[in-house]
Amino acid sequence: MTIQANINQAVLLLRSGDVIGFPTETVYGLGADASNPIAVRRIFALKGRPVNHPLIVHVQNREEAESWAVFNQMAIEIADRYWPGPLTLILPKRKHVLDEVTGGLDTVGLRCPSHPKAQSLLKAFGSGIAAPSANRFGRISPTSAKHVSSEFGPDLFVLNGGPSKIGIESTIIDLCDDKPAVLRPGYVTNSEIERQWGPLGHSDRSAPGTLKAHYAPKTSLLLSQNPKEDCQTLEARGLKVAMMEARPVADYARDLYGELRRMDQSDVDILVVEMAENEGVGIAVNDRLKRAATGSPHELEEIDVSKDNA
Ligand code: TXA
Ligand code: MG
Repeated sequence: MTIQANINQAVLLLRSGDVIGFPTETVYGLGADASNPIAVRRIFALKGRPVNHPLIVHVQNREEAESWAVFNQMAIEIADRYWPGPLTLILPKRKHVLDEVTGGLDTVGLRCPSHPKAQSLLKAFGSGIAAPSANRFGRISPTSAKHVSSEFGPDLFVLNGGPSKIGIESTIIDLCDDKPAVLRPGYVTNSEIERQWGPLGHSDRSAPGTLKAHYAPKTSLLLSQNPKEDCQTLEARGLKVAMMEARPVADYARDLYGELRRMDQSDVDILVVEMAENEGVGIAVNDRLKRAATGSPHELEEIDVSKDNA
């Protein structure tokens, strides 16, 4: 099929109330017509996601975003600086925005993705697409079309846009108060926002669904300061161990979820993970690593390597 034929098919499916997988530069989304309550409910059913976890509405530009939410001056400036791109804005919603999308909140999350196929899709569809990451609830976000199909099976139509360039979900900024508040760190960093728009505030509005344990692989994870030593210690105990080393941080973000998925396909007992340097995009990478390690089947006490290293 040509690219245009694929986009046309995706649009037909969206118009008839179906759910599709589609690429963005951050991670793949599971999209439906944001104005169709039945279609939006299908997303929750497919993902197994609690209905009070709101969805992001994806739009083609700021003008369209303004038909979903009320933009203040700072929101206009930030959108014009970062869109299209890996940034979601939380703003007061317009009346018509469905409770199914917002989880009953009076705010809505909006994002204009830069991936060329996402852009073509949004232009051809001509309205907002509600979409969470295209993974089952609590699991690892997908960064390829293949990941999406492995989550939901071959019956789900997935628009293939190649591997996601950024690889972790968008930065979420709440702009409902005077100061911008970061609800989820991402590729657009806290310090960038702070430099331009002043000190960050704290939002009482958390992002429902940014749970402590999330992005969870099945393989146990050990976050480590001394990955090489810890690997040796664990191997000496008879465990099958793999190591994920830190690397330039944009590469780390891009590779992260694919590597965790690869581990789940392998017979590795435990993945020893070197954290990124905790600045810039490294803050977002470490945030995802910590969530992925929370609730790992191997409790930390059980694999307390510090004693062996002492
Ligand atoms: O990069 C991304 O943001 C990807 C791609 C597909 O765009 N989407 C994504 O969606 O990560 P999801 O649903 O997996 O995560 C969105 C987060 C959720 O934690 C949700 O609670 C929060 O955004 N969110 C959405 N609307 C909100 C609102 N009105 N107020 C507070 N948080 C909101
Ligand atoms: Mg998600």
